[in-house]
Parts: sequence; structure tokens; C-alpha cells
Amino acid sequence: MRKKIILDLDTGIDDAFALAYALASPELELIGVTGTYGNVAVETGVRNTLAILELFDRVDMPVYAGLPHARERDSFEVLEVSEFIHGVNGIGEAELPEPATSAAEGGAVEFLVESVRRYGDDLVIVPTGPSTTIASAIEADASFAVHAHIVMMGGALAVPGNVRPWAEANVHQDPEATDLLFRRAADVTMVGLDVTLQTLLTTEETAVWRELGTAGGDFLAEAAEHYIRAYETTSPHLGGCGLHDPLAVAVALDPGLVTCLDINLKVDVEGETRGRTIGDQSRLNDPVKTARVAVDVDVERFLGEFMRRLTALAAKT
Ligand code: BDR
Ligand code: CA
Repeated sequence: MRKKIILDLDTGIDDAFALAYALASPELELIGVTGTYGNVAVETGVRNTLAILELFDRVDMPVYAGLPHARERDSFEVLEVSEFIHGVNGIGEAELPEPATSAAEGGAVEFLVESVRRYGDDLVIVPTGPSTTIASAIEADASFAVHAHIVMMGGALAVPGNVRPWAEANVHQDPEATDLLFRRAADVTMVGLDVTLQTLLTTEETAVWRELGTAGGDFLAEAAEHYIRAYETTSPHLGGCGLHDPLAVAVALDPGLVTCLDINLKVDVEGETRGRTIGDQSRLNDPVKTARVAVDVDVERFLGEFMRRLTALAAKT
């Protein structure tokens, strides 16, 4: 049986790649997408998701709008760094037609809770933005934290953050939400900067998409080249852009791509280390570890799978 998957995206260039990776993987059955704020406002993220689904001929997919801002705030504003990296429209100024479809009726939280109740161990949830909507699902239904299998992109264990010295972007947006997720959820895999900054895309790969001469190939190349140019400014030492979000989808499908450390996690929510993901000292001696942190990745195998799958998907458009 195919593994069922829900993506929780703040679409976003690498979120777009995560969505494409799921659509391009016959081993996965994407049953819906929930949208969060983060790289862009929630409405823009949902719009981007719908436009990408239309590009790849998947207008059947339900897309639910999630919560619009962090738990401790009453509004959301796009960070300057997010706009620089992902562009004003979130997809690197690549142009996609206005989607003919709209967000599904009903809330993202209800969809998440209902899906975990219905599919249990056959479902994996992959959040690649702030944890706000997932934290609300945990609070909405006591069985969610017990039965949900979560593979998230976010955090940094043994490397510095990317938007603050201590904090990775997704966790930085809503540290309280990720802290709640780490303390309550029974099964979390953290795919953070420790591994995602090892998986880099360059213009050598985007040239392959350009050569396809298809709408899908052009879109992937356009968005990726914007992202690569931004990384040349923010992280010139890397020599490419980080494939953060698609790596989380790849790990959900094939956990053997990464080596993990079993640990109980928390997020610092106060002081200068606010947003830091770190071991929870109060659960250090608890024999039950609720999280696995990816600390190493098979870069070659992932990049091979990433290019093979996305190129085949884009060739069909
Ligand atoms: C994460 O932050 C966002 O900008 C990306 O989409 C990714 O989910 C990387 O820190
Ligand atoms: Ca993201």
C-alpha cells in the first residue's frame, strides 16, 4: 500500500520543490495540503500551492488554509530575509497563471485531526513551515499527538541558525508552537539545517530543467535560479541553495536517507537563544525518546532521487 502523506507548506520555493517531490513519487499518496504563513502570508502560500497543483495537473488535491500567524502574535508580516530569498510572490518571481481552483472548505486543523484518526500509522505529516497549525491540531484532539507520525523541516541541532545565530527560520516564526510539538508529539523526525545545508542545488541541475522546454521545467528552473542567486549573497560559502523542504519529503518516504540521533527535544522560548532547538534536560534520563534528529544524509542518493523525480514530473507538463 502507498504511504499516505499530508504536506503543511508555506509555499515558498523549496516548499514548491517539496510538493513536486511528493507529486513525483508513485510510492506516496498525497491526500491533501495544508497551508501556513512563513515565507509568505498564508493566502499567498495557498495561492502558490494551488497554482503549482494546476501546473502539474493535480487540481483534484484539496488545499486547506491553516492559521495566519504565530500563537503569541495577532498578525504576521513577511520577514525581509524571507522576501529576499523567496521573492515577493514567494516563488522567486516565477509567473504562474492565477489558479482556477480555490482553497477547500473547512479548516486545516480539522483536516489534520480527521486524517490522523482515519489513517493512523498509514499516514505521515510533513510540515515545512512554522509549527502553528500542527500545534493547534495537537491541542484540538488528544489522540493526535499519540498517533501522528511527523517528519518536519525545521530547527538546527549542531549548527547555527539561519535567521538568528540560534534559530532556524521555521522555528523562529513560532518557537512556542514547535516547543509544544516537541514536548507533546510521540513521533517526530527533525530534518533541520544539520542535513538540509548539505543538500545543495546548483545551476548545473537547473540547466537540465531548462532543456526540457516545458512549462514545468521552466517554472522549476526559474524559481531555483532565484533561490540560488539569493544564496550566493546570504551564504556564498555553500556554492548552491539548500534543498530544505524536499529533503523532509524524501526522508518521509525513505528514512534510510539520513542517520538520526534519538533524543527528547525542546525549543528555547526566552532570552537570546529564543528559537533554539536543543535536548530537553528534564527528559534526559527518560528511556523513551520522542524525536529523531537527522544528523547526516546520503547527499548523492538524495540529489539523484530529487533530480530524477522532479525532471520526470516536469517533462510531462
Ligand atoms: C526553511 O525556511 C523557509 O525559508 C524554507 O522554506 C524552509 O522551510 C529553511 O530554514
Ligand atoms: Ca518552507
